[in-house]
Amino acid sequence: MKRSTCVMTWAISATLLATMAACSDAPAVASAAGGDAADGAANQTDAKGADAATGDTAMMMPQTQAPSAATAAILAKIKDYHSWPKFAENATPKLSQSHMKMWVVTYHNDVVTQAIANKTLPLPDGAILVKDNGMSADDPMPMPTIMAKQGGQWYWIEATPDGKVVIDEMMDKGKPLEGHDVKMCTGCHAAQKDKNDWIFVHDFGK
Ligand code: HEC
Repeated sequence: MKRSTCVMTWAISATLLATMAACSDAPAVASAAGGDAADGAANQTDAKGADAATGDTAMMMPQTQAPSAATAAILAKIKDYHSWPKFAENATPKLSQSHMKMWVVTYHNDVVTQAIANKTLPLPDGAILVKDNGMSADDPMPMPTIMAKQGGQWYWIEATPDGKVVIDEMMDKGKPLEGHDVKMCTGCHAAQKDKNDWIFVHDFGK
């Protein structure tokens, strides 16, 4: 019950933050959802192309704002995350079951590398995980979602590739998706809170 609410939320969020501009392409997108993964991806690419062709870019962009100082400090640390190690469980783009229609790859910094080796739970301060969310497996501009451990707490960010923070249109309408208490993120990740420090991709106890 709770989980399906989450999935629905994410689906709507992805619609907002990515290129699924629900409006004119709604029927095409809805039918893509019923198809298999490859079909969905293909249709999405088509939809994206159609939008680009009509020059309808404003609708495709999420609402964003400049990052807070705390967020900017984390974004500075992840500047070169595409050269970081990836989790073995998600080293190649995978069509996320939960993050509907988004192709995801998950990176981590060296603090997490140590935590994987030493099975450290909860993760220590300084740990950073970055998940790319792309509209296709080879999306050149994926949106990063970030978890950074500070003072024993995760700091959550959803950013654009050029370093702006996405505005929450669902759970905390109008608030930027940045900080220690971001309902959009914690609602789903809480399912992993006690057993795996809020993390899905890798089981740190193993
Ligand atoms: C609908 C549920 C849901 C929501 C909402 C959600 N996540 Fe996730 N997240 C997941 C799942 C499930 C994974 C595992 C990979 C996958 O299947 O996409 C994940 C993976 C991640 C990862 C990689 C580490 C891990 O836990 O596997 C990061 C980083 C992340 N999410 C950040 C965020 C941030 C930041 C937000 C809020 C802006 C957010 N997530 C919102 C479900 C969610």
